[in-house]
Amino acid sequence: MKKELKSNFLWGGAISNVQAEGGILEGNRGENVYDQLQVVPEFGQTSQGNTNIASNHYFQFKEDIDLMKKMGFRAYRLSIEWSRIHPKGDEETPNEDGLKYYDEMINYLLKNNIEPIVSLVHFDMPAFLSKKYNGFLNPKVISFYLRHVEQVVTHFKNRVTYWITYNEINTAPFDNMSYLVAGSKRPSGMSKMQFFHDIFYNTERASSLAINRIRELSPKAKISGMITVNEVHAKRNNSLDRFAAHLKNEFNVTLFGDLMCKGYYSAFYTKFLDLNGIDYSNDDLSVNKIAAENMDFLSVSCYQTRVIESNVSPTDIKQINKIIFEVPDEPNPELGASHWGWTIDPIGFREELNQLYNQYKKPLFVVENGIGLQEGKTTEETINDYPRIEYHKKYIKNMMDAINLDGVDVLGYLIWSPIDILSSHKEMKKRYGFIYISPMQNKKMKRIPKKSFFWYQKLIKENGAIV
Ligand code: BG6
Repeated sequence: MKKELKSNFLWGGAISNVQAEGGILEGNRGENVYDQLQVVPEFGQTSQGNTNIASNHYFQFKEDIDLMKKMGFRAYRLSIEWSRIHPKGDEETPNEDGLKYYDEMINYLLKNNIEPIVSLVHFDMPAFLSKKYNGFLNPKVISFYLRHVEQVVTHFKNRVTYWITYNEINTAPFDNMSYLVAGSKRPSGMSKMQFFHDIFYNTERASSLAINRIRELSPKAKISGMITVNEVHAKRNNSLDRFAAHLKNEFNVTLFGDLMCKGYYSAFYTKFLDLNGIDYSNDDLSVNKIAAENMDFLSVSCYQTRVIESNVSPTDIKQINKIIFEVPDEPNPELGASHWGWTIDPIGFREELNQLYNQYKKPLFVVENGIGLQEGKTTEETINDYPRIEYHKKYIKNMMDAINLDGVDVLGYLIWSPIDILSSHKEMKKRYGFIYISPMQNKKMKRIPKKSFFWYQKLIKENGAIV
């Protein structure tokens, strides 16, 4: 079987800078929603990492980029922290210190021939915008976001080609993620559906306006929106579970994909709004339609799949709402999972790539894939993270099968994450890195390549042919 990929396939890695930088008092940075996040413990959480220092990437980023270069990275996804460039969010001009910092980072990447892939919002909305406006629930925040995008793109457009407008936009309207992703909390008295719709509409509008503006500012730019995909499958082979899984996927992914890539609401969603009495008659989707054409590729993060068991009959809207918002999905008991219950499902990943490509016909870019492990530094020279190697080997093999056997167009693959960073729940014990980050000593955190580092280095060198 043909195993090769195109020679310009973008192998590399991704981080979110708020989860890695630390240095929160440096360069006139403002507080952001990640700093303020009240963590709801995830299963297995043991301790909260220190966001003030995180992985000390703020001070040690050159060392990190040197190691990425050594691994052979062709591309690297970073986020330009919104609250470093616009500390409160409503400033008319950007913070020069913030721009200077990312100038250095991007110049250093280019010097090392690593293509920067820049995310424009990744858990980093200035806390002020969240506090004063309740984040994207208030459409006024769209204009602040747009100003941030314009100023960042204008500054970097000669050096950055790849832009991702909004990290995992399809998590923004859900109550458990809305604060971190959109800076918004559901006001008491507002229904889940109304909140969902307002955040959905406003964040998608923001991302679409950003796509259209970037296209004007930089015709050569390659622009993308981003979604996360954790496909839900039926737990038992019966029609109730199958339909419940269909509803979850429709709601978690398809609504977003349709608006982003086709510029319209799915038939299911307009019916859902009608039946829930949500007025959308003034929604203007013309910008989304233009953005769908301007979008060059679709970015996706994929980690796991889920299953659902449901005894609810979806025969009226109350029951449908119940399945969507109340019946939980869970890890697949027939497949292995990480310590945190994230099902390891490489063939499921191949299936997801197929579905997205067939539905949207946009090239895909896997901008996050990885596994969180508990790893303590022992006295050994390195960390033997064999489960990580096995995980990536299988996921990469399935991505390559999607490309070579199923005809899916994939531009690149980025590991989450090159270095250990804090998790979205601010957890340092949930490590994703191919490079171990040791505790701070004399203002430095030592970087130690794990076994996976050398494996990935070889994989990139062989352009994937070793899986
Ligand atoms: C993605 C996010 O959802 O998954 C990252 O874009 C996040 O920011 C990653 O860190 C892994 O999730 P977690 O919760 O294990 O950190």
